[in-house]
Amino acid sequence: MTRRLVATDYGSPASVLSVVDEADPTAGDGQVVVAVTAAGLNPFDVKRVTGDMSANPSALPLALGGEAAGTVVETGPGTDHSIGDRVAVYPAVGAFAERIVADADAVHRIPEGASVDAAAGLLLAGVTAYDTVVTLALGADDTVLVHGGSGAVGSVAVALAVARGARVVATASSANHDHLRDLGAMPISYGGDIAEAARDAVPDAVTAVIDTAGTDAAIDASLQLVPADRIVSIAAWGRADDGIVLLNGSSADSRAHRRAAVAPLLDALADGQITVDIVGTFALGDAARAFEALSGRHPRGKYLIKP
Ligand SMILES: NC(=O)c1ccc[n+]([C@@H]2O[C@H](COP(=O)([O-])OP(=O)(O)OC[C@H]3O[C@@H](n4cnc5c(N)ncnc54)[C@H](OP(=O)(O)O)[C@@H]3O)[C@@H](O)[C@H]2O)c1
Repeated sequence: MTRRLVATDYGSPASVLSVVDEADPTAGDGQVVVAVTAAGLNPFDVKRVTGDMSANPSALPLALGGEAAGTVVETGPGTDHSIGDRVAVYPAVGAFAERIVADADAVHRIPEGASVDAAAGLLLAGVTAYDTVVTLALGADDTVLVHGGSGAVGSVAVALAVARGARVVATASSANHDHLRDLGAMPISYGGDIAEAARDAVPDAVTAVIDTAGTDAAIDASLQLVPADRIVSIAAWGRADDGIVLLNGSSADSRAHRRAAVAPLLDALADGQITVDIVGTFALGDAARAFEALSGRHPRGKYLIKP
């Protein structure tokens, strides 16, 4: 049997999450079964449970978790994976479980030098960050403002933008300013006048914005700095009428960017260009505590769920 985390209703994680036993998954044509070592928790998982995304009763119970990493334990016909391969699974469905089945093209070998735990928390945020940087075609002529540069998506976006030669100014709480400096960004705070702080922080005019915060303050400040079509957001869904570029992997370009991101991100993890800091590790039966932590102000880094 396989233990799996599910939400039996929409609401507070502590009251709706439970662990159920299911028959072990099996690999069909072009599929692989992975024994999960760790799975990354993301804000999307929290929003699904609380009903912030949609609260359709017919979708219950919800299988949760969008990314995982572990070991291949079964391969179906038409796959080139081998039993024992260390792999990351993204996109994953129901990753918070002991064993999961996935299409082979969502199962990616983890290169030597990258840990399974770090790989478990890299790809969902990482491909999103890659999508923002590629959509803006950032390069050495750019000065980019990243809102939420200390977050899971923002940290990778900052690292990728710096690697492309762009100058980066990024918002975060003051406790995370050293982290931004370590990544090569100029830190500013998000409480006050963000546009003025950004202008003061960098000598050149801002040419592009990546927004991971989704607040009106972030978008209003961005519109003072660059035209709307140079603002890419993954979170400000209420500001579509401003003409900003919203990304969630649903357009053909966004999907293609995200698919292309997986291999370079895993390689960058292996050679240390990108790091994934783990802030907490929780057992399946204790996962509600991780969900509660991520839903409020939380320390920088990824929460992992381990079956
Ligand atoms: N559209 C997509 O494809 C997609 C994909 C992944 C994630 N997302 C969404 O993107 C958002 C970020 O995800 P994540 O995983 O990076 O989250 P995260 O790790 O929790 O990071 C949140 C970031 O926002 C900053 N922040 C918190 N409150 C803020 C405020 N009032 N103003 C400005 N910045 C603030 C945090 O800074 P401090 O901690 O330093 O205060 C941190 O840098 C979430 O809403 C998530 O659902 C969308």
